[in-house]
Order: sequence, then C-alpha cells, then structure tokens
Amino acid sequence: MKRLAGISCGAVALALSCAALAQTGGGASTGVYSKAQAERGAELYATHCARCHGASMEGLDVAPPLVGGRFLGNWTNQSVAALAARIRTSMPLDTPGVLGLTASAEITADILAANGYPAGQADMPTNSQGLQPLTIDAPPAGAK
Ligand code: HEC
Repeated sequence: MKRLAGISCGAVALALSCAALAQTGGGASTGVYSKAQAERGAELYATHCARCHGASMEGLDVAPPLVGGRFLGNWTNQSVAALAARIRTSMPLDTPGVLGLTASAEITADILAANGYPAGQADMPTNSQGLQPLTIDAPPAGAK
C-alpha cells in the first residue's frame, strides 16, 4: 500500500495527488516500517548516535532528545523523507555523510519506533522519492 503510493507519486509527478496520498495513506501512525528494519536501525543508532543523543535517545548535553514532545514538535507534519535526509546529510554531527540511504532509513525507523509509531509489514523505502509520501503524523494515542 505505502509502496504503491510512493510509486504513483513518482510516476504521476503531480504535487497535489502526492499531498493527498500522504494525508490519506502514508501516516507514520499506520505502520510504515518493519520491525526488522527498526532493529537494524537500533544497532546503527548505538554505534553512530548514542554517544551524543543518549542510549535511549533522551538527549545529552547539547544534543537534543530524539524522542518525546520536543522532538515531535519539530517533526510532526513533516515527511519521513525530510527526517531521513536530515540524518543522512547532517549526522553524525562530527562525521556527516558516513551513512547511506539504507542506514539512514533504518535509523529513521528506529526513531519512529522509539516515539511509539507501530511497525507495519514491510520495510519503508530508502530513497527520498519513496519516503516523500510518508508523513510524520501524530503518534497513536497511548504512545509514549
Ligand atoms: C557528535 C555528537 C552527535 C552525534 C554523534 C550525532 N548527533 Fe544528532 N545532533 C547533535 C547536535 C548537537 C544536534 C543539534 C544541533 C544540530 O541540529 O546540528 C543534533 C541534532 C539532531 C537531529 C535534529 C533534532 C531535532 O529535534 O530536530 C536529529 C534528527 C539527529 N541529530 C539525529 C542523529 C542521528 C540519527 C545520529 C546518528 C546517526 C546523530 N544525530 C549523531 C549531535 C550529534
């Protein structure tokens, strides 16, 4: 379903239909990554991110938290593509650019999981065209 939305956005190239799809089919609260993908991301997070952002993404020193209200306040209603791209191009802060598309998507999946967005059946796409229709909507009720 999500992959189909991504393909038709790319093929049709109509901004309007992409926006409509993002609102109807691509909310992160509907389950846009797989559990295995998030687990791969958790390993990468521990290696590349935890020393600054904390083992539980709680934030340390100047590195902000990647879970909770402040983080979601920055990212709600943005696309998953924007978050993955932010990570890929600017993080780790001291060695940006070491993560590829696949790793960035896996870490993004781990961050969504940590914020209470549920896993779905399939991996989310790794390229920005595929990720663009997916929106960081409000986490499901009851999520931390
Ligand atoms: C050397 C320390 C350091 C490392 C390692 C690091 N970060 Fe960061 N990160 C920061 C700092 C400091 C900021 C805030 C300043 C900025 O945005 O550049 C930040 C900001 C962010 C933001 C923006 C948060 C927001 O609320 O908008 C995200 C997302 C992020 N980091 C993800 C990651 C991920 C994922 C990794 C691992 C791949 C990582 N960071 C590794 C220091 C670090």
